[in-house]
Amino acid sequence: MERIPLAIVGCGGMGHRHLFGLAELHRAGLSRFELVAACDPVTDNAESLAAQAEEHFGKRPAVVGSLDELAAHGVAAVDITTTPRYHHMLGVDAVQRGWHAMIEKPVGLTVRAANRIRAAAAETGRVVSTAENYRRDPINRLAKALLAQGAIGDPRFMIHQTAGGGNLMTISVWRHQKDQRAARADPV
Ligand SMILES: NC(=O)c1ccc[n+]([C@@H]2O[C@H](COP(=O)([O-])OP(=O)(O)OC[C@H]3O[C@@H](n4cnc5c(N)ncnc54)[C@H](O)[C@@H]3O)[C@@H](O)[C@H]2O)c1
Repeated sequence: MERIPLAIVGCGGMGHRHLFGLAELHRAGLSRFELVAACDPVTDNAESLAAQAEEHFGKRPAVVGSLDELAAHGVAAVDITTTPRYHHMLGVDAVQRGWHAMIEKPVGLTVRAANRIRAAAAETGRVVSTAENYRRDPINRLAKALLAQGAIGDPRFMIHQTAGGGNLMTISVWRHQKDQRAARADPV
């Protein structure tokens, strides 16, 4: 089977989790991808992902710090798992280089940012998708099936509300520290 040369761009928490997904596909004999590079300006993060990739695939992907460097590695597609603020810049840049892209949610921080990616994909004919794992969550698939089959009638109105609060910093720093103008990149 011909494999698609892929790079993970953004080697933090989700970059590593996407690697685990690729490893599962590989173990199941279903992978259409070859991970050729790990891209992150924070070299330690890219090195960590490359080392774990080597354990799973028996081959170490290249470590690079930017899309410019990535261009030397013959990628056809990128899996963009950076902090949200970079999604539209990297997504547009990637498709303009001729690469297909999957972009972690939120695909863009604003509607305008998301539309920039959509326009660039249309102009270049590249495929862009959003990585949204909740779409595949069993409970959401059940809800979709129930709706599609009319099992719960023809819903006209739905209200969904959640609320939360607190000062705890959870999962990753960028969620809470919005003012990072001085930071070149957001470390894990
Ligand atoms: N689907 C889910 O369940 C889920 C869960 C958590 C996070 N996310 C999403 O995943 C994305 C990443 O979140 P995270 O928690 O992994 O963040 P993180 O901070 O752990 O990792 C982000 C990585 O991106 C790197 N980065 C920043 N700028 C870059 C650039 N220009 N090029 C390459 N790499 C760059 C950072 O150095 C860092 O290693 C976010 O969009 C977030 O919303 C999704």
